[in-house]
Amino acid sequence: MDKLRDLIEKYKAEVKDENPFLIEEVESFRIKYLGTKGLVKTIMGEMKNVAAENKKEAGQLLNEFKMFVEEKFATFDYIGTTNENKNTTNLDLTLPGTPTPIGTRHPISIVKNKIVGIFNKLGFSVAEGPEIEDDFHNFSALNLPENHPARDMQDTFYIAQNPDWLLRTHTSSVQTREMQKGKLPLRIICPGRVFRNETISARAHCFFNQVEGLYIAENVSFADLKQTLYYFVTEMFGKNVKVRFRPSYFPFTEPSAEMDISCLLCNGKGCNVCKKTGWVEILGCGMVHPKVLENCGIDSNKYTGFAFGMGIERITMLSYQIKDLRLFSENDVRFLRQFESAL
Ligand code: DAH
Repeated sequence: MDKLRDLIEKYKAEVKDENPFLIEEVESFRIKYLGTKGLVKTIMGEMKNVAAENKKEAGQLLNEFKMFVEEKFATFDYIGTTNENKNTTNLDLTLPGTPTPIGTRHPISIVKNKIVGIFNKLGFSVAEGPEIEDDFHNFSALNLPENHPARDMQDTFYIAQNPDWLLRTHTSSVQTREMQKGKLPLRIICPGRVFRNETISARAHCFFNQVEGLYIAENVSFADLKQTLYYFVTEMFGKNVKVRFRPSYFPFTEPSAEMDISCLLCNGKGCNVCKKTGWVEILGCGMVHPKVLENCGIDSNKYTGFAFGMGIERITMLSYQIKDLRLFSENDVRFLRQFESAL
């Protein structure tokens, strides 16, 4: 054991002094110490001469030595030259680098940017909020008090450490935050990712993207809402697409509506996508409920507003005739590359 210890100390000192610079010198170091016939392997062979009761200790020493050499090797910074003179190198800095492949924009981003661009032209500016929300901003403020049955419409992911925290189920939570800031009039568009505890299938996912719109000022009417959305549809899908509003229910708006557009795939004749009705639903909307305004500190006698919310995936699927929601999150480049020309 003493012999072994001395030997390792001696070699350690030797390794410490090594200072290779050229690529060949680094390679010589590797062969000398770490190669198949190198020193590390050779002294590992000493194990067979160690008495059984010392094997454990010897093994540790040898392993330490091996790591010592490997760590030293990892510190070498060489520039890969064959020049004998260490002050100059043959390195040709004008050689082109290895190309880094450039990705393409994701279809969801392309469509999100287009939606945001359309509303920008109407004076809406972008607002964003956190993906981890508290109950107040995602639910209570939006007129969904605890035990309200409408909470079940959105299967929520709660955060285990704090029952008040959750992954936002809709971008309506951003409305709440912006209204609380108290700067009026308010005209915002809020794109973002939302989460629901749904089984993943061609039509549902546990995360997806929404865009929320909100306009609050004096004398905002349902006519303003319709006009805004008509403009959006024409810009997004073209002049020939028809629009209809159906009465609906959302706790945060009164009255509430859902908006359908004529099916882009069959031109309203009826197909699988529109379930033979000729219409597809693209968003929910309505006049902001006075209670919601009050919950966020806005005088509902003075101000009125409209809001709407749409799923970006749905709009993208209609725009590009994509039939399976899962494609958006699989990151298959063969799928993603098809949208290069849409940039
Ligand atoms: N938050 C609703 C959802 O996720 C969408 C929505 C409906 C948003 C109506 C609104 C609205 O602002 O007015 O299903």
